[in-house]
Amino acid sequence: MCGIVAYIGGQDATPIVVDGLKKLEYRGYDSAGIAILDDGKIEIRRAAGKVALLETLIEKNPVQGTTGIGHTRWATHGAPSELNAHPHLGMAGRIVIVHNGIVENYLSLKEELVSEGVVFKSETDTETIAHLIEIFYNETNDLTAAVQKALKMIKGAHGLVVMSTVEPEKLIAARLGNAGGVALGIGENEMFIASDIPAIMGHTRKIVFLESGQFAIVRRDGFSIHDLEGNPVKSEIQNIPWDPIFAEKGKYRHFMQKEIHEQVRSLSDTLSGRVDFQDYRIILPGLNLNKEKAQKIKKIFITACGTAAYAGMVGKYLIEHIARIPVEVMVASEFRYCDPILEDGTVVLAISQSGETADTLAAMEEARKKGATLWSIVNAIGSQAIRIADGCISMQVGPEIGVASTKAFTAPILDLYMIAVYLADLRGTIDRDRRLELVKDLLTVPSLVEKALENDRAVKQIANRYKDIKGALYIGRGVNMPIAYEGALKLKEISYIHAEGYPAGEMKHGPIALVDKDLPVVVIATQDPWYDKVISQIEQAKARSGKVLAVATEGDELIPTIADEIFWIPKTPWLLSPAVTIIPLQLFAYHIAAFRGLDIDQPRNLAKSVTVE
Ligand code: M6R
Repeated sequence: MCGIVAYIGGQDATPIVVDGLKKLEYRGYDSAGIAILDDGKIEIRRAAGKVALLETLIEKNPVQGTTGIGHTRWATHGAPSELNAHPHLGMAGRIVIVHNGIVENYLSLKEELVSEGVVFKSETDTETIAHLIEIFYNETNDLTAAVQKALKMIKGAHGLVVMSTVEPEKLIAARLGNAGGVALGIGENEMFIASDIPAIMGHTRKIVFLESGQFAIVRRDGFSIHDLEGNPVKSEIQNIPWDPIFAEKGKYRHFMQKEIHEQVRSLSDTLSGRVDFQDYRIILPGLNLNKEKAQKIKKIFITACGTAAYAGMVGKYLIEHIARIPVEVMVASEFRYCDPILEDGTVVLAISQSGETADTLAAMEEARKKGATLWSIVNAIGSQAIRIADGCISMQVGPEIGVASTKAFTAPILDLYMIAVYLADLRGTIDRDRRLELVKDLLTVPSLVEKALENDRAVKQIANRYKDIKGALYIGRGVNMPIAYEGALKLKEISYIHAEGYPAGEMKHGPIALVDKDLPVVVIATQDPWYDKVISQIEQAKARSGKVLAVATEGDELIPTIADEIFWIPKTPWLLSPAVTIIPLQLFAYHIAAFRGLDIDQPRNLAKSVTVE
């Protein structure tokens, strides 16, 4: 969950590394640090807190050099403090590292190192790696061999970069398992390294991604990649088309706000290249499907975490309704433990914005072991969830920086809808007329989202009236049931207000006991097949003095007579309505958190990529 940046070249490394860290701060942000090779000496600056504090520290105590490494941390071992912040030095101060991941056997390694006289300065697991490399260097006088040996000793998943005074002309970067990526950026007589490419996209678009079990020796004029035995490995240079402007806030106060408003464009981009307008067919070449393969699918298991899992829940309704294939949704952290039955003909579909979420990758690995076909819907280009899948749909929404996921929620809803239509078409479940109707509906979504966003000011006024609430209940039914979960998650993660999502029909089985004048009930009450049932749930809440905030379809004349507040959305085809009903709920959560003056893009205790289990 941490971020890594490194540079070797002819420029001053400090501003390049610090600027990269700022772009990665969304990954982890409780402390940050850099190490710069200054005239053959390692100079370290570290600060508890955000990168801005590190910057202030560097302003007061500047450091310059043409090689440097940096890190922004989300604490796992040891409190977020200056001492625990990376980079960490080996005992003799000649080796310094930044690291992402958990050394699972660090206690036994530390015990051994301490018994050999090593003195630890931090409480981190990372420091063991620095000491190991230093000790092995003393034995071999060869930095590469020392790093190789250390990599073989540490258990767990890791991304790291090593810098040294002993071989100052090189950096060594390594990746073991799925603790986030390691990408090399190729410049003109300079090289960049980052755990996540937005950190270096302002400098180069030529990127090489390390695979698990590989390390790279990086010099200013080039690099070589090796397996853990030291054998050279061929690499593919990718030209990444993302524009770094994506990573800027532009006119918005927060990335989350920008990303909510970006959804008109991100959803158009999601559809781009996937619809054949000649005969309104969906084409998803990334899934490597044909009629025969599609016929053989007996079941789809969707697995993901958090917001991505809620998108998956919407997908269950869509795929079962349109393609008539049974779908089971399982949060990725539980996937392995339910001992899933993955018979012949089972597809496991993982959804992930980052493509690096440890639980999701572990679920994919489990599915791979059990012989299922693996698909993924992923946003981050080059991430592990793309690389290990048999088929993949790229979200095409650009970098999502706000920790609270927004555009990476609506995009997979459309992707899942497209999968449903594509499968139904290939399997002959729908006829041409139905396909035309479904695809035409799909094409209306970006403009419907645009209309929903036009009500931002009205949502903000409602948020102002409810900014001091202590809790909220969100309810929805059918395809909008997962929107209740997602709406509640948005509110709780950025405003720290307790919010609970529930299937509307479950209210009477318990949660209705909570309803009184102080507990707002947010109800998704749009014009869908279960509208009447939802109306009766609103009546039940009103009968208990509950305040009802309804997401309703423009033109509905009944809702204003029973709800206290209304989030209007335009009339939307009901199967696709989740991509629109979530918009006012994202805005509502955003404005409440803004009124409360909270750190919306980096809420407490959270990180953008959850690369620990
Ligand atoms: O990168 P992923 O989509 O795999 O991340 C999954 C969850 O960690 C993520 O959706 C999380 O729930 C967000 N904070 C929600 O806003």
